[in-house]
Amino acid sequence: MKRYLLEPGRAVGGTLGVPGDKSISHRALMLGGIAHGSTEIEGFLASEDCLATLTALKSLGVRIARPTPHQVRIQGAGAGGLRGASAPLDMGNAGTAMRLFMGLLAGQPFDSTLIGDASLMRRPMERAAIPLRSMGARITTHEGRPPVEIKGGSRLHAIDYELPVASAQVKSAILLAALASEGCTRIVEPAPSRDHSERMLGAFGVEVLREGSAIALEGGQTLEGTRIEVPGDFSSAAFFLVAGCLAAERGLTLTNVGVNPTRTGLLELLQQMGADIRVQRRGAAGRAAAEPVADLEVHASALKGIKVPESLVPLAIDEFPVFFIAAACAQGETLVRGALELRVKESDRLAAMAAGLARLDVEHELLPDGLWIRGGSGFGGGSIDSLGDHRVAMAFAIASLKARAAIEVRDVANVATSFPGFVEIARQVGLNITELG
Ligand code: S3P
Repeated sequence: MKRYLLEPGRAVGGTLGVPGDKSISHRALMLGGIAHGSTEIEGFLASEDCLATLTALKSLGVRIARPTPHQVRIQGAGAGGLRGASAPLDMGNAGTAMRLFMGLLAGQPFDSTLIGDASLMRRPMERAAIPLRSMGARITTHEGRPPVEIKGGSRLHAIDYELPVASAQVKSAILLAALASEGCTRIVEPAPSRDHSERMLGAFGVEVLREGSAIALEGGQTLEGTRIEVPGDFSSAAFFLVAGCLAAERGLTLTNVGVNPTRTGLLELLQQMGADIRVQRRGAAGRAAAEPVADLEVHASALKGIKVPESLVPLAIDEFPVFFIAAACAQGETLVRGALELRVKESDRLAAMAAGLARLDVEHELLPDGLWIRGGSGFGGGSIDSLGDHRVAMAFAIASLKARAAIEVRDVANVATSFPGFVEIARQVGLNITELG
């Protein structure tokens, strides 16, 4: 089993780029796959999650070439152009791939089955199946979990749907099904969630209307192939933003990072804690894709604990593992509530982080929907189980910057699902990290 060994301390610094955005890479593949004509993706994230989507699209008959690891050329199948796969489609560890494919495949003439790894096979899929069924899809889950079986040949119709949780995956699944539906689908969000699908549908020539917290899409619109430039993934940059807050005495700069405001809740949280982070806007990536991009310069800062506003939780949802590390280094108390969604990610991230913090002697309390932490005393050393969760593994690697003894992080192979090259980049900025196994 792969593990990290981290020696404590050391300063971080320098300038680095992070790999492409995972959410945007999945969407670019899928929309390119059903578009008419060809789509070019630059800055594609060649991670296991996104490659699962790419492989699945190939099994559905889409012609895809990769001239270089980060460039993808898709010959779109066009409306009605996908064909049934001969075997179940394996989504690996990728919840985004599974839920978005549910929407994409719900209106196809053929049957499909979606499976994944042990973590994904435990995750809730009814949240996407329920609205899709109300559109006319025939979808079966098993006690709410994968395998997900989708019957082909259903005629889909538009719905008016209020999402019970702020979930970009469910919203996107409905939008993808709405493309193949009759009528105008309207979705209301309880709170804003990442809007990459809406932006990218626009780039492919689809009209998506926004009215306050509602999004509307008329079925039957066709997608035209385009060129997508994928910005650096803010969720990968997040680990080094926190590393910089803890130990970049001379500054650390992260270049070409996507700063879509529906993703950058962590920036606001760290700034509320007193972090010195400077944002230099660079304009939009891939013009039509309209994703804002910036260079982020972070300097070591004396952080103080905060009460996290619940409105920021969906905007920082993937960043909580590393946010808890920042909180453990901040003077005073930090409280996160309203984060129940963290329990159904790649692992139960509240439980996984609490267990790791306990190992490293951080005073904390696990709450049903959040975590309370008293920070400021640094970390002890010890061995942490990441539970196979990429973000938990990377978060505890960052903790080594303020540790009194060595930290071992076990079960880290899944870091490759979102951040290939993490160890090399971490070493390059100054972490004393070795991968074993
Ligand atoms: C994602 C949405 C979020 C996020 C996930 C990626 C997406 O999940 O946690 O990592 O690409 O749409 P939810 O939709 O479940 O909140």
